[in-house]
Amino acid sequence: AIHLEGRHFLKELDFTADEFRGLIDLAAELKAAKRAGTEVQRLRGRNIALIFEKSSTRTRCSFEVAAADQGASTTYIDPSGSHIGSKESAKDTARVLGRMFDAIEFRGDGQATVEELAAYAGVPVYNGLTDDWHPTQMLADVLTMTEHSDKPLDRISFAYLGDARFNMGNSYLVTGALLGMDVRIVAPKSYWPAEEIVTLARVAAETSGARIILTEDIAEGVRGADFVATDVWVSMGEPKEIWDERIKVLGPYAVTMEVLRATGNADVKFLHCLPAFHDLGTKVAREIHESHGLTELEVTDEVFESEHSVVFDEAENRMHTIKAVMVATLAAAG
Ligand code: CP
Ligand code: NVA
Repeated sequence: AIHLEGRHFLKELDFTADEFRGLIDLAAELKAAKRAGTEVQRLRGRNIALIFEKSSTRTRCSFEVAAADQGASTTYIDPSGSHIGSKESAKDTARVLGRMFDAIEFRGDGQATVEELAAYAGVPVYNGLTDDWHPTQMLADVLTMTEHSDKPLDRISFAYLGDARFNMGNSYLVTGALLGMDVRIVAPKSYWPAEEIVTLARVAAETSGARIILTEDIAEGVRGADFVATDVWVSMGEPKEIWDERIKVLGPYAVTMEVLRATGNADVKFLHCLPAFHDLGTKVAREIHESHGLTELEVTDEVFESEHSVVFDEAENRMHTIKAVMVATLAAAG
C-alpha cells in the first residue's frame, strides 16, 4: 500500500511515477470497496479546509463526499467568503488554518499561492486547480484510462486537442511524460505549453520512456490514439473578449466524429474534465450562440453523447482519486 503521510499535492511532478501509480491503485481499491459496501473509514475525526477562489462542481463535491465517506469533516470557503488574498496573505492564512485543520485544498489562479500555503501550513496542501496545473484531475483521467484500456499504462496513447498553454494541457503533458505514456499535444503552435513545461516533460520522459509529440497536424497527432481529450477554449478567469480569437484559432481542433475516425481506432475513447460546451444547455452557451451562431465548441454534441465518451466515468473518478489522495497523505500507516 502507498503511504504519503504529510505530503503535499501541488503538481503532478511532486510524485514519482511509482507514487502516482500507487495513488491510482489505491483509488481503484477505494472505488471497489465503496461499491461492495466494505469501505473502511481511515480519516475519522479529521478536518479538511476547502478554499475555492473559483467555482467548482466536481472538485468541491469530490472532496466533500470523499471526506464524508472516510469519516472526516470539511469546511467549504467560497470565492468571496474568506480574507485570503484581500485582507490576509496566503502565508498568514496557512498558519491559521494549519492550526485547525489536518489538510487544506486550494483552488485559485496562482500556483504561487498554493505553494505559499504549503510552505507555511504545516499540514498537507492539495492543488484543486490553478492556472498552471490540475493534478487531482490527472489522477481521475489516468484511472479512467486504465479502466477503459486493456493496455498497461506505458502502452496507452492519448491526444489532447485545444488550448494547451493552460492547466489541462500542461498537466496532460507532464503526467503522460511521468508515466511513460504516448502523449500528443495537438494545437496551433501559439497554444502549446510553455517551453519550460515542455522541458520538464522531456526530462521526465528520459526516465520513463514516454513518447512526446507536439504538433499542429491533427491527422498526425491523433493517429492510433487510444484516448482523445479536450478542454474548454476559455478558462475560468479569462475575459469574454477572447472568444473571437479562440473560436477562430482553435475551431479546427474541435473534437468531431471525423477526428475520432482519424485515430483509426474504432474503440477510441473521449475524455473531457468538464464542464464542456457541447449544446445550448447553459447561459454562457446561449450567449456564445447569440454572438457567434455556434451551438457546440471544443467537442460536438455527437461525440459527447456517443459510445466513445467516458466523461461521466471520469467525473465520478474525481471522487475516488481525491479520496485516495487524502487517505494516502493523512491516514496513519498500517
Ligand atoms: N473538472 C473540474 O475540475 O470540475 P469543477 O470545476 O466542477 O471542479
Ligand atoms: N481549463 C479549465 C478547467 C476547468 C476544470 C479552467 O481552468 O477553467
